[in-house]
Amino acid sequence: MRVLLSVIYIFLLLALSGRCSDVYSRSDFPEGFTFGSATSAYQWEGAVDEDGKKPSVWDTFLHSRNLENGDIACDGYHNYKEDVKLMVETGLDAFRFSISWSRLIPNGRGPVNPKGLQFYKNFIQQLVSHGIEPHVTLHHYDLPQFLEDDYGGWINRRIIKDFTAYADVCFREFGNHVKFWTTINEANVFTIGGYNDGTSPPGRCSNCSSGNSSTETYIVGNNLLLAHASASRLYKQKYKEKQGGSVGFSLYAFEFVPYTSSSKDDEIAIQRAKDFFYGWTLGPLTFGDYPDEMKGAVGSRLPIFSEEESELVKGSSDFIGIMHYFPAFVEDIKVEPSLSRNPDFYSDMGVSLTYLRNRSDFGVRV
Ligand SMILES: *[C@@H]1O[C@H](CO)[C@@H](O)[C@H](O)[C@H]1NC(C)=O
Ligand SMILES: *[C@@H]1O[C@H](CO)[C@@H](O)[C@H](O)[C@H]1NC(C)=O
Ligand SMILES: *[C@@H]1O[C@H](CO)[C@@H](O)[C@H](O)[C@H]1NC(C)=O
Repeated sequence: MRVLLSVIYIFLLLALSGRCSDVYSRSDFPEGFTFGSATSAYQWEGAVDEDGKKPSVWDTFLHSRNLENGDIACDGYHNYKEDVKLMVETGLDAFRFSISWSRLIPNGRGPVNPKGLQFYKNFIQQLVSHGIEPHVTLHHYDLPQFLEDDYGGWINRRIIKDFTAYADVCFREFGNHVKFWTTINEANVFTIGGYNDGTSPPGRCSNCSSGNSSTETYIVGNNLLLAHASASRLYKQKYKEKQGGSVGFSLYAFEFVPYTSSSKDDEIAIQRAKDFFYGWTLGPLTFGDYPDEMKGAVGSRLPIFSEEESELVKGSSDFIGIMHYFPAFVEDIKVEPSLSRNPDFYSDMGVSLTYLRNRSDFGVRV
């Protein structure tokens, strides 16, 4: 299945552009192009347990491993006015950030934390009054720990209802000013990191203390799509007419480059990599089902959409956000499941990826 990439907004990630000899200015970009910068709640806010905020899976993951953490981060919770000033000085049109679910609703469901609510209202007001358009992400990996403990978080379908209720609070409280909503940040990376590799929260995998890379990766992908679609439907039914905003989904995207320029197999492998990395979510969002290639490779471990779910998911994204950092070489080789003998995302995909993080990497290989 060919993947349709409909990108209607792009944030330029200037941080990784390195030393360019070319000089660009605004006039090189189309009229109305939005320049912005972006962060997430966990990377920016700090104030980890202040004013009623409860832990998310990020807090637990890093603390339990004694790793560097976001307890303080950029301290945006306290310094947001200063940060907005810097955005104005930089000349930004937009700022993309995420809401910390467990700051707004500490247990993930139930009562709203008034101080958390006030923080986001103040921050959004500060942006808007300085002419900076807020782009809000609802879920940037930081699930409330309470929901993880209560029923396993994203591996359980109960998450769909709780996510939709959380989205409802955000649309209702912030939707007068916020017109660009992203439900899930980098859905593919979140799923692979959290449930296939276990290298990001909640740290589950076949070779972790708990988890199952053969099955959970796909179950979580399915629940993310259903939760997104449910929140998107709610917006259309209850808010869109009045607020006039749009609801989208976001993905991490490589540029896939064949490892050998002559191998037809590498070309075919690229299509398989696209089906797994992009078609996995864009297929359902565009056509209501997973790519055939994926269904064939994953078999009964890939959840099946009911007819009703398929209709719900199809067309549920007003836009697709693409995060791009570096390309990857694709090679058609049989991949052994990384950490256990059970199949996982990579062995199902059946290609080897070599990441190119910078220009010198690129120079070495091409
Ligand atoms: C994962 O689940 C599959 C299907 O239920 C099962 O066959 C496999 O043994 C499980 N793997 C692990 C590591 O638990
Ligand atoms: C997990 O992986 C590590 C390192 O690759 C290995 O030493 C360990 O035995 C594995 N554990 C399980 C349960 O497979
Ligand atoms: C490029 O990335 C590689 C690791 O992928 C690193 O070893 C190398 O130092 C990087 N080069 C530059 C110029 O950043």
